[in-house]
Amino acid sequence: MHSADLLRTHGDGIASGKPGVGRAHGKLILLGEHAVVYGAPALVVPVPQLTATATATRLPAAGTGPDRIALAMAGPGSVTPLATDGMLHLVTEFEKRAGLTVRVDLFIESTILPGRGLGSSAACARAAALALADAYGQELSAAEVYELVQLSERVAHGRASGIDAVATGAVSPLVFRDGIAQKVPGGAAEHPHAAFVIADSGVRGSTKDAVQLLTSRFARDAELRDLFVTGVTDLTTGALRDLEHGDLAGFGRRLTENHGLLRELGISTGHIDSLVEAALTAGSLGAKITGGGLGGCMVALAADTAAAEAIAGSLRAAGATRTWMVPATNGGVRAEPTNGSK
Ligand code: PMV
Repeated sequence: MHSADLLRTHGDGIASGKPGVGRAHGKLILLGEHAVVYGAPALVVPVPQLTATATATRLPAAGTGPDRIALAMAGPGSVTPLATDGMLHLVTEFEKRAGLTVRVDLFIESTILPGRGLGSSAACARAAALALADAYGQELSAAEVYELVQLSERVAHGRASGIDAVATGAVSPLVFRDGIAQKVPGGAAEHPHAAFVIADSGVRGSTKDAVQLLTSRFARDAELRDLFVTGVTDLTTGALRDLEHGDLAGFGRRLTENHGLLRELGISTGHIDSLVEAALTAGSLGAKITGGGLGGCMVALAADTAAAEAIAGSLRAAGATRTWMVPATNGGVRAEPTNGSK
């Protein structure tokens, strides 16, 4: 079935039973994107203020035709065929695992802009998996939810480390490596007002293209891959030490160094580089591109809320289309628990 078959209007058909609901949120990679695909550790924080909510309404009379799954998405930015293809794989795998055939109206509402490196596709997939499970009375373990999201993510990204699948359901900062997520140990308590400023370059990036770009480069040059992975591993490990010691300036420097490594590999853009410069000039302790790249967002570390506001103002003056502020506590955000997770 082509993804276009899925893009039908939400709300047709007659509802059967209470709709299932699933929720997930955005994420912000502070260090380690791309290198995490090759085994380096990455540091990621949940962004609970950016949300994806899925509602799965069961429709009566199980059928097997392509119209048994109606998918609609609402939110900023347009839905890509890749996202809908991924979602179809997710639904089919859910059916296989649950041993049933679904006939469902799946509506996903997201405030996470797609193509900005903030985990839009994984959050939508996670919300959808939880909504389906809720609608069909299925208990999914955390591992099963992860696998369903990963399946969808592999369609969207080509090659996915799993960091987004975990972080879009996480309630605290995580270090992610080789499929395993660990909570970030506390630290930096002496900087309770530190904040991350996220700025949107206004240009949609493509994680799939960026991942593919590096796959091709590294296939030709394994030494370059090893240098990148070792360099990022050192930065993430060092950043965790900085957090433990409350060294916010050291942590910030590593963000900027990580940006340099990603830029050298062609993952950044001229516009993002200029936003990084603008943030540093405005007093940011460190700044870098975040997520898949080739567009999307950058992140800047601010020592306190006043500095964050000044940096956000400079970023908008330098052409950022929007900015968000994410308060940092103990090296991460004050995340609220997500509802709908089992
Ligand atoms: O662009 P996003 O939000 O999908 O982040 C992708 C992170 C990568 O490291 C580039 C890919 C991955 O699967 O780890």
